[in-house]
Amino acid sequence: MTPTRLTRRRFLASAGAALAAPYVLPARARGAAAPSNRVHVGCIGVGNQGSQVLQGFLQNDDVQVVAVCDVNTASYGYKTASQYLGRDPARRMVEDHYAAGSPSGRFRGCDAVTDFREVLGRPDVDAVTIVVPDHWHAVMTVLAARAGKDIYCEKPLSLTVEDGRAMVQAVRRSGIVLQTGSHERSRQVTRLACELVRNGRIGRLRRILAVVGPHNKVGPEGAWAPMPVPPGFDYETWLGPAPWEPYHKDRCLYTFRFILDYSGGQVTNYGAHSLDMAQWGHGTDRTGPVEVEDAGSEWPRDGLFNVATRVGFRARYADGVELECLTRDDNVAARFEGTEGWVEVGYKGFFTEPESLKRTVFGPNEVRLYESRDHYRNFLDCVKSRAEPAAPVEVGHRSVTLCHIGNIAMRLGRRLRWDPEAERFIGDDEANRLLGRPKRAPWGL
Ligand SMILES: NC(=O)c1ccc[n+]([C@@H]2O[C@H](COP(=O)([O-])OP(=O)(O)OC[C@H]3O[C@@H](n4cnc5c(N)ncnc54)[C@H](O)[C@@H]3O)[C@@H](O)[C@H]2O)c1
Repeated sequence: MTPTRLTRRRFLASAGAALAAPYVLPARARGAAAPSNRVHVGCIGVGNQGSQVLQGFLQNDDVQVVAVCDVNTASYGYKTASQYLGRDPARRMVEDHYAAGSPSGRFRGCDAVTDFREVLGRPDVDAVTIVVPDHWHAVMTVLAARAGKDIYCEKPLSLTVEDGRAMVQAVRRSGIVLQTGSHERSRQVTRLACELVRNGRIGRLRRILAVVGPHNKVGPEGAWAPMPVPPGFDYETWLGPAPWEPYHKDRCLYTFRFILDYSGGQVTNYGAHSLDMAQWGHGTDRTGPVEVEDAGSEWPRDGLFNVATRVGFRARYADGVELECLTRDDNVAARFEGTEGWVEVGYKGFFTEPESLKRTVFGPNEVRLYESRDHYRNFLDCVKSRAEPAAPVEVGHRSVTLCHIGNIAMRLGRRLRWDPEAERFIGDDEANRLLGRPKRAPWGL
């Protein structure tokens, strides 16, 4: 990090570390954090997952949420208003939280804005959460990095491979901390499964199965009619860099996942977890496979939702390990098959063959992986220490790259050769054109 990019708060952090280290001590070690020692956070996107992330940050008493930002005023289109929020309910949640902890029982002091650039422009904001649809992740991350903000950005990190690489470069140039929202990286059982594979406890790794959940939403099929934009919803800003299309409620909140302009379907939604686990266990989480091909994917003929309704692709790594990604009903799982056993970890649990592998005690010279027990806490600790977090930008980018190239192979229905260094397909211009997308003005990177 160059000195000119040091913010006032970050300067205090590094000066504190060098002098007496009061700032770098975890808040839990000190009890309630003094207001001046808190990490000031702006939360961009407070819908389905954004409301969970907001609550996760509020649980840490060395955090002060100073702003929430959303283009949705209040819960339009969601089934459960209390769960999904929107800008105004999110502000109330923050203020109620701080009011409950204040002697007067009152608190005002969380901004609620529509334009995320207002959050980035505040000098007192140290870090932002980016929990918006995938088509916005790159633009917000690059601008937040340029503004010197640390970033908690949800998975899947990017909409395209080229966007992901631009995010990595922006983060590196500005020296900020970015945590990808790949929660499996902070789950002990996932780490154990990956350590078993990395230490050869299942023999030589031969095959990996990465599971993604079924296409679980039904959208309008065939012709669909545009709908009026509801009051309190800034649809133009929701679209942002994506191509302009008429409004339909199923285009936006939550179900954007099933439209290729904004996301990649379940292969990026769940694959950002299961393929990330696959790469972690294999030790390829800063590179990728050398070949990828369709393996029986199914696609809708028409309708608003145009992502694969059944995921199926195969990839091969330079060391000969085969990976298969497919739809199964348990949403997220990675299964590693070796010459002497197998390990499977996911939402359904942790299974091994032989069973005794679960009780493995590793020796001092064996491979141990990054240990984090709480994804939000890990990010906050790294904001203070400037260390690399559990799911850094390169890892988040490489995991979603595997999702993207799998999607491209499924869309084209043919075998593609991949160069993980150049991040290009070899000898296939049509496939290479799908690695990036134009962005609607003024949102070009
Ligand atoms: N880590 C996980 O397990 C996990 C789980 C669920 C979702 N996610 C990720 O979180 C992201 C959001 O998904 P979701 O389910 O919360 O979707 P959502 O539609 O419920 O929420 C997105 C929110 O962003 C707001 N928004 C859109 N554009 C905006 C803009 N320009 N400025 C400010 N706000 C804007 C929307 O109004 C909405 O409230 C996705 O990338 C998704 O993959 C991660």
